[in-house]
Amino acid sequence: MSISIAEVNESAKSALLAISSATDLAALKLVKIEHLGDKSGLSKASQALGKIAAEEKAAFGKVVGAAKAEVSAAYEARVKVLETERDARVLIEERVDVSLPASNIPKGGLHPLTILTNEISDLFIGLGYRVAEGPELEAEWLNFDALNIPADHPARTMQDTFFIEPLDSKLVLRTHTSPVQIRTMLENQPPIYVICPGRTYRADELDATHTPVFSQVEGLVIDRGITMADLKGTLDYFAQSIFGPDVITRLRPSFFPFTEPSAEVDFFFNGRWIEWGGCGMVNPKVLEVCGIDTSEFSGFAFGMGLERTLMVRHGITDMHDIVEGDIRFTRSFGLGIK
Ligand code: DAH
Repeated sequence: MSISIAEVNESAKSALLAISSATDLAALKLVKIEHLGDKSGLSKASQALGKIAAEEKAAFGKVVGAAKAEVSAAYEARVKVLETERDARVLIEERVDVSLPASNIPKGGLHPLTILTNEISDLFIGLGYRVAEGPELEAEWLNFDALNIPADHPARTMQDTFFIEPLDSKLVLRTHTSPVQIRTMLENQPPIYVICPGRTYRADELDATHTPVFSQVEGLVIDRGITMADLKGTLDYFAQSIFGPDVITRLRPSFFPFTEPSAEVDFFFNGRWIEWGGCGMVNPKVLEVCGIDTSEFSGFAFGMGLERTLMVRHGITDMHDIVEGDIRFTRSFGLGIK
């Protein structure tokens, strides 16, 4: 293979042209392969040096060396120019304006029922109560028998209660939060001051005022010398904290197997009496089942629905709004949504 000085100069010239015409680093990389790579004219010229007559070698070698040096220098210089251009462009393109207001990414929020539950818990914690919890899948004995609800009580029929198969498992989805009273009394010595919020289940159809999965809050106090006056005072304080300072409550005689005497509690709100829940003095039979000495201790209990409490307080007319979990509902109440 032979090569002339003119060819070397030609290769160098076209290499320099290609280098100066490359407008970005990717294009320049291809130029390097073509004009400085193994198969380029200049590389071939270097290889040809070996086969050249000795007397021409020095002069030819100088030309090839000078050409390669010039092209390499031009290449390096072009790399620097294009890198500088790229860096300047990236700085502009990827610029972050730290003075822009932060975008508001919603973080979700607590459901109004959860907020109400927290509000009630805080309120009673402020009175020295503890929050007690129990399982939603509950022993039939705790949900009914220990609460003095006999086997033939209407609440124990299939129409009201979700029984768990196999039926001899003796488990139900708790129909109220009252079994937490029993759990608390079995596990603790009086004095007892607890509030038990939680989810409860009954075989109802979902409609504007019913839902098969609902929530209750239960209160239980066992201490020396507890009377119905303590119950009434506690309910007044509870109602006023939730519905407003002018709200009053009234008790109407009623019947629950686990309280004696028993009452329905109503509160006066927006010009009318509204049924709120049940209450009474804890039936001595229930205290005895839990091993509490009835000659020393007495107590009161109450239980109300949280959905109903929320509906009344906020004028919600359709239960669907509470159970469906639509963010627009939560947000419209402005309750804790970020
Ligand atoms: N457990 C009752 C129910 O679900 C409500 C209730 C009534 C709870 C009277 C009580 C009470 O603690 O004393 O209908």
